[in-house]
Amino acid sequence: MEKENFRGPIHRLGDWIVGSFVRMPRWVRLPLWRYWHLKMIEWDREYHALRFMNYGYAPIDEPELPLVPEDQHEPFGAHLYHVAVSHAPVEGRELLEVSSGRGGGASYIARYLHPRRYVGLDISDRNVDACDRVYGHLPEVEFVQGEAENLPFPNNSFDHVVSVEASRAYGDVMRFFSEVRRVLRPEGSFLLTDMRWREDMKVLKQQIAVAGFAIEREVNIAPNVVRALERDNERKVELMRRRVPRMFLSAFSEFAGTIGSDRYRAFADGRMNYFSWNLIPTGE
Ligand SMILES: C[S@@+](CC[C@H](N)C(=O)[O-])C[C@H]1O[C@@H](n2cnc3c(N)ncnc32)[C@H](O)[C@@H]1O
Repeated sequence: MEKENFRGPIHRLGDWIVGSFVRMPRWVRLPLWRYWHLKMIEWDREYHALRFMNYGYAPIDEPELPLVPEDQHEPFGAHLYHVAVSHAPVEGRELLEVSSGRGGGASYIARYLHPRRYVGLDISDRNVDACDRVYGHLPEVEFVQGEAENLPFPNNSFDHVVSVEASRAYGDVMRFFSEVRRVLRPEGSFLLTDMRWREDMKVLKQQIAVAGFAIEREVNIAPNVVRALERDNERKVELMRRRVPRMFLSAFSEFAGTIGSDRYRAFADGRMNYFSWNLIPTGE
């Protein structure tokens, strides 16, 4: 089903809010963001449907990610994390993930790639509580509540910092980058995977350089994101039908990037870019 089927005036207001979100001032964005996440958690109370909150990655001319049966209901979220971190040496290392969301990435990396320690930080205490509940049994994983722009860790604490589909919504991305630089060990890497409007890419690359990082690896994964949105469309639409109140359906399908949404079209026609980077600290 396409997004247009849900539309009415209230739905168009929802679309506008979602579309303008990242350009709103921080004081509007933070309460909206919190409200939105509270709603998502409410709609998925049993914590079965959404272990990832990203658009996902689907392989094109490469094998499917081998996953155990219990992980096969959300393969594209896991694959995005795999692409984000698997070009760095993760086994036996200490990793921090900033904006770990519902913990699906932490769980995938801990169980398949075997870091020594994995800390997931998120601004939402509800997310942190849910992650503690669901993944508390994984000995190398811990979750903490905190802000990307003010990381509660000493200097040089981690071998890698992971960030997936989150930095775009932060109030002060330069402050986030400088915090990452501070908590990273000198030989570590910053594994950043995120999207930006095409016209904002140049600024992002300048910010990366000014923050003291060099690009070691850069991959444009937008075609894989589009493929994931297409392959996951039916599951998402069905999930929304069952869980999301009707007045939120249109906004939610924009947020989820279902086929027919402007978000889906923006990835497909190149207005929105999606990259995966390995960034390494340059000299002081
Ligand atoms: C789109 S979700 C991505 C979650 C996860 N990385 C994933 O791919 O499933 C963005 C996450 O960023 C978190 N977040 C937003 N602003 C934040 C901030 N300033 N500091 C820390 N986390 C933040 C939200 O609570 C949410 O869990």
